[in-house]
Amino acid sequence: MTSRRLNLIKESATLAIANLASDITKQGHDVITLSLGEPDFATPGHICDSVMQSIRRGETHYTPAAGIPELKSAIAEKLRTDNGITVTPDQVLVTPGAKQAVFEVVQAVLDEGDEAILLDPAWVTYDACIRYAGARSVWVPTDNDFMPREVGDYVTEKTKLIIINSPGNPAGSVFDRKLLEEVRDIAIDNEIMVISDEIYEKIIYGRVHMSIGSFDGMQDHVITINGFSKSYAMTGWRLGYVAAPPDIIKAALKLQSHSVSHAASFVQHAGVTALSAGQESADAIDAMVAEFRARRDILVDGLRSIGFDCKKPDGAFYLFLDVAPYGGGDVVAKLLLREAYIAVTPGSAFGPGSSDFIRISYAASRERIYDAIERIRDTLIP
Ligand SMILES: Cc1ncc(COP(=O)(O)O)c(C=O)c1O
Repeated sequence: MTSRRLNLIKESATLAIANLASDITKQGHDVITLSLGEPDFATPGHICDSVMQSIRRGETHYTPAAGIPELKSAIAEKLRTDNGITVTPDQVLVTPGAKQAVFEVVQAVLDEGDEAILLDPAWVTYDACIRYAGARSVWVPTDNDFMPREVGDYVTEKTKLIIINSPGNPAGSVFDRKLLEEVRDIAIDNEIMVISDEIYEKIIYGRVHMSIGSFDGMQDHVITINGFSKSYAMTGWRLGYVAAPPDIIKAALKLQSHSVSHAASFVQHAGVTALSAGQESADAIDAMVAEFRARRDILVDGLRSIGFDCKKPDGAFYLFLDVAPYGGGDVVAKLLLREAYIAVTPGSAFGPGSSDFIRISYAASRERIYDAIERIRDTLIP
């Protein structure tokens, strides 16, 4: 009885694992959850204070569908200073989470029969949104560093969109200027739109984040997506945004205003605080990133010590681990959950060429990571 369109989409793999892990926890087992895409840090105090004040001021009603003017201006300013992207506040659409931004702009760009290029591995939601639009994902393989090669070879006359995500989920890979310039040239030469999902921009280790939207000639070709979930540990608040050419914003706004209307009013006010608090916000981000970095090092060193050959990811808080010698991602994810009580995500969720891998999220305490390495050793290593 359900629509063909929704039958094309699978349940989110990360949520499916979370449900399974929660069942096992209810049976009384101590599950180490390394499957989640959310910082395990508290939202910084000044942002929490700000939402309380906003509610007390009575900012609890409908707002303009595209977002409150103060937040759109703060985002335009942030994009200018942090990312070198020039947009007016009218080219900004505030959304309830970056995920909603991805959904809306993919629907705004793609028609049935179109093709969209995804780099394998890619975050699970992109393919679902492309399918929902009636379009098709064309997967570009990546090399050992999770860098795509020869993206141009995958362009056809049906290609309307390329989605990039740096720093990336699930591999933590960070694109350099040369690769971004290659994508830019392909986009301009073939009249293709690029969605650049930059939600992990602040969670980066020793590398510099670069926005393709700052490159010459890209103004009409780039849709930049970002949000507050990762940088400010605000996953539950649901606040994201998109900056794009006016026609894309107009189309996405139609979808937003007829569905979710807008992001919660007081959450938008807290978003203004997050962006304009300067040092206070920067300090909170720095502390979180330093802790993520330490955990990444513990995880990578620990896995190396038990025989895995893995590189240190440059960004986000995930490690994409090759487990082909142990039966591949699906087998190992199931084994780790059932026998070691560790929840990870199988690589097959992230693309057709990624089934040898599992994604390990290190958004968990150092103790849990040490514990997980021991359990992985006891379960996988003969
Ligand atoms: C690559 C990527 N983009 C977007 C999102 C969505 O973030 P939000 O919580 O703002 O919807 C996520 C969340 O996991 C993500 O990994």
